[in-house]
Amino acid sequence: MELYFILFLFPAVFTFRDQIVGVRGILTCNNRLLQGATIRLIERNYIGPDVVLAENKTNYQGSYEVIGKGRGVLDMNVFLKLYHDCDDAVIPCQRTVSLRIPSFYISRGTTVNNYFEAGTMNMAFRYPDEQRSCTDRIFS
Ligand SMILES: *[C@@H]1O[C@H](CO)[C@@H](O)[C@H](O)[C@H]1NC(C)=O
Repeated sequence: MELYFILFLFPAVFTFRDQIVGVRGILTCNNRLLQGATIRLIERNYIGPDVVLAENKTNYQGSYEVIGKGRGVLDMNVFLKLYHDCDDAVIPCQRTVSLRIPSFYISRGTTVNNYFEAGTMNMAFRYPDEQRSCTDRIFS
């Protein structure tokens, strides 16, 4: 409600602009590099379903890079979502965790100048808000 009111008053200031976010890092599982994990950048909106901005997989060195693009008045609310089988006996399900990208790394423009360096993450770690995906493999 409030937003529409502001847009009505200041139409020139709140224009739709290109936005971009880039994330890169390395995944390990205990003492080995984690290959084949799925990495997604997800835009989570207050209304409507989540939007998958980008998807990639970790390579044989466990490294990944994802670049998500969007357009909007407000900064995108972006999460890095990881799907993996580290320490996971349940087949075909995968462990998943969503981590929020700080809004500082959501930039205006069409090229990434400021990557969010996620660093090396050991996915044997149990993250607080972990979930499980059993459908992802089947449908994609
Ligand atoms: C996927 O990740 C690999 C490894 O980091 C990278 O070389 C490649 O450019 C990425 N692909 C896309 C589409 O971002």
